[in-house]
Amino acid sequence: MPDVADRKNPGTQYEATTTGALRLVLRQMKVTPADWTFVDIGSGKGKVLFHAAGYGFQEVIGVEHSETLATIADCNLARFTATNTSKSPIQCVHGDALRYQLPAVPLVIWLYNPFGAELIGQFVERLEAHRAATGAAIRVAYSNPLHAECFDRSEHFHRMVEVETILQGNCLIFRTD
Ligand SMILES: C[S@@+](CC[C@H](N)C(=O)[O-])C[C@H]1O[C@@H](n2cnc3c(N)ncnc32)[C@H](O)[C@@H]1O
Repeated sequence: MPDVADRKNPGTQYEATTTGALRLVLRQMKVTPADWTFVDIGSGKGKVLFHAAGYGFQEVIGVEHSETLATIADCNLARFTATNTSKSPIQCVHGDALRYQLPAVPLVIWLYNPFGAELIGQFVERLEAHRAATGAAIRVAYSNPLHAECFDRSEHFHRMVEVETILQGNCLIFRTD
């Protein structure tokens, strides 16, 4: 697989999820956070992680490939933990989400425009392999779902619900279980 810096990826511009959109989507996902790990694929400066931690997920993880954004996320995490009592442990990973080894536990995957069509296809294949190897349930919140057909084609994923957010367009929730 080519290195992330060499890949053409039109979906990478940083734009943070609004707290309203996160709240609305998590409500529709119908998970008990304590039983699930939240992973933000392309976590930017970490805003979603800090809000997701307030729901009490088992763990909250963000993976970001931009060194600049990952460094800002680390600073934000240090500031957040110094001034807040987080309900969940938070981990910021600097790296390519397409190479990141997901933990073998039930996963809520947050996907807000990190990839263009080709890379989202590769990411869905990784999720399918993960599901086949671990049996762990996966829910995916795919905001601005420009390439939803990649999930629709998958035997592993089923559409659960479509959520309309005020400022952030639509979000499709897919489930394996
Ligand atoms: C639209 S922003 C979303 C930020 C955050 N997830 C949110 O919802 O607030 C997309 C992010 O994906 C990151 N990204 C793109 N390709 C990536 C990759 N292969 N691995 C990790 N992060 C990636 C970009 O650097 C950018 O920060």
